[in-house]
Amino acid sequence: MDRRTWVARLAASGAIFALFGCGDDNSTAPDRTPALSSSSTEMHALAAEVRLLTAGRGITALSKPPAVRPALVRLGQALAFDKILSGNKDISCMTCHLPTFATSDGRSLSVGQGGTGLGPARVPPAGGFIPRNSPQVFNLFAIDQLFWDGRVSRDAVGNYHTPAGAALTSAMTQVFEFGAASAQPMFPVLSREEMRGFNGNELAGISDNQEQQIWAGIMARLGAIPEYRRMFQAAYPGQRFEQMTFAHASNAIAGFIIDRLSFNNSPWDRFLAGNDAAMTQVQLQGAKDFMSARCSICHNGAALTDNKFHNVAVPQLGPGKGDGGGSDDFGRMRETGDPAEKYAFRTPALRNVELTAPYGHDGAFFSLRDFVDHYSESATKLMNYNPAQLEPSLRGTVLNNKTDILSTRDPLLSGVVFSPQVVDEVTDFMKALTDPAARNLQGVVPGRVPSGLSIDGGIGPR
Ligand code: HEC
Ligand code: HEC
Repeated sequence: MDRRTWVARLAASGAIFALFGCGDDNSTAPDRTPALSSSSTEMHALAAEVRLLTAGRGITALSKPPAVRPALVRLGQALAFDKILSGNKDISCMTCHLPTFATSDGRSLSVGQGGTGLGPARVPPAGGFIPRNSPQVFNLFAIDQLFWDGRVSRDAVGNYHTPAGAALTSAMTQVFEFGAASAQPMFPVLSREEMRGFNGNELAGISDNQEQQIWAGIMARLGAIPEYRRMFQAAYPGQRFEQMTFAHASNAIAGFIIDRLSFNNSPWDRFLAGNDAAMTQVQLQGAKDFMSARCSICHNGAALTDNKFHNVAVPQLGPGKGDGGGSDDFGRMRETGDPAEKYAFRTPALRNVELTAPYGHDGAFFSLRDFVDHYSESATKLMNYNPAQLEPSLRGTVLNNKTDILSTRDPLLSGVVFSPQVVDEVTDFMKALTDPAARNLQGVVPGRVPSGLSIDGGIGPR
């Protein structure tokens, strides 16, 4: 269903109440629906209305993740936490996707190899920050465009699109059991800033365009540890370690992430499963707002992402990707070359979003309510963005490209204005997307890893 059909359908169902329609400069919020009543008849009526809207938007229940064989999960878990994958053996995948920070790192921009400390306390090396925010890695089986610019994906006919081009051979992609999620771990290990390092180790000595050699170098490290050889052979029965490539490691990491970091038992999930009382009444009202206030035109499907790219007027900060001859980040346009996609980023999934601050591709917003509020009169909000919320070293880096950002802002955002009450309700609905089990992920941290290196498993309870 295209946008126009959807809006028409909502209008026909009487579900559109005047949440939007004012200009960006008109801050007068329209009248709201009458005050909430706690009567259960009204609650069931509201629930029925939300169900109808949900179905109309193609929002479905999140299925159970595919079953993953335990030996593959164990291998993937070890690899995800093992710093042996990094050039100087000082950082693992999970250093930036910390269990204590709901698989993110609690900071606007990540800090890669050479950094010290963890989470918000991590101190960058001389090279500085990673240009983007570390996203959560929940429910990856339901997301097929990975990274903020979608540079790793698998298309409908099963072909992989990645920055490695032909270096990712068909023999390698045949190993992948979990789509884009299996391909993704091939890439952080190549990045000098994130994991490989600039010098001081044999992986850093390989030139950037020799992906195969870098991957083989990591497999050589792993093969030198008998416990890893046994784990690989148990994870891939009937195959010898010598025949395996880093694709086997990458696929195992995906198997671990999908098996242990998928969550579909939030109040919202219980509501979708038929329990009208699973959410509070305010959350239910927030869900209705979410369906009516255009949010669900982009945040839909099982994971609340359309797996597409949009510019929602998030300010640009940090070192950027070198675009525009400096510290800009053109987002999806970097991949497609299409100027209409300048500053467009992949719509993020929203389950457990309450736990994954800060928000946006560069972590420009620390509060969830502020991100929701940003959609109301987003042009004005972008112009008035307050860098004081950022860590001191990033405050001066906010780019003066706001007019340029607004010139490709998604047209869906024009004229969107909500009252503070709607912002509160929608924010409350976002909290209904939290699976209680995701609040404490210490259970996914292994006691040790085969290399014997230290584990960055978190920094104490939240
Ligand atoms: C230095 C910190 C850092 C390390 C180390 C790191 N990541 Fe990430 N990860 C990030 C950042 C930042 C992004 C977003 C990058 C982008 O979009 O350009 C990301 C993106 C991802 C994504 C995509 C999620 C999405 O929704 O698109 C996955 C999956 C992921 N990382 C898993 C891993 C795995 C597996 C490893 C180890 C092989 C790893 N990461 C190592 C910081 C890190
Ligand atoms: C035009 C498509 C679109 C619409 C409409 C939209 N979103 Fe988004 N949403 C996105 C994109 C794209 C991002 C990431 C933008 C970026 O980082 O530059 C995002 C980011 C977010 C985030 C931050 C998530 C994170 O992990 O960083 C939240 C929360 C969110 N949206 C909620 C909402 C709500 C609530 C609404 C309705 C008021 C809404 N969105 C409307 C596309 C959309």
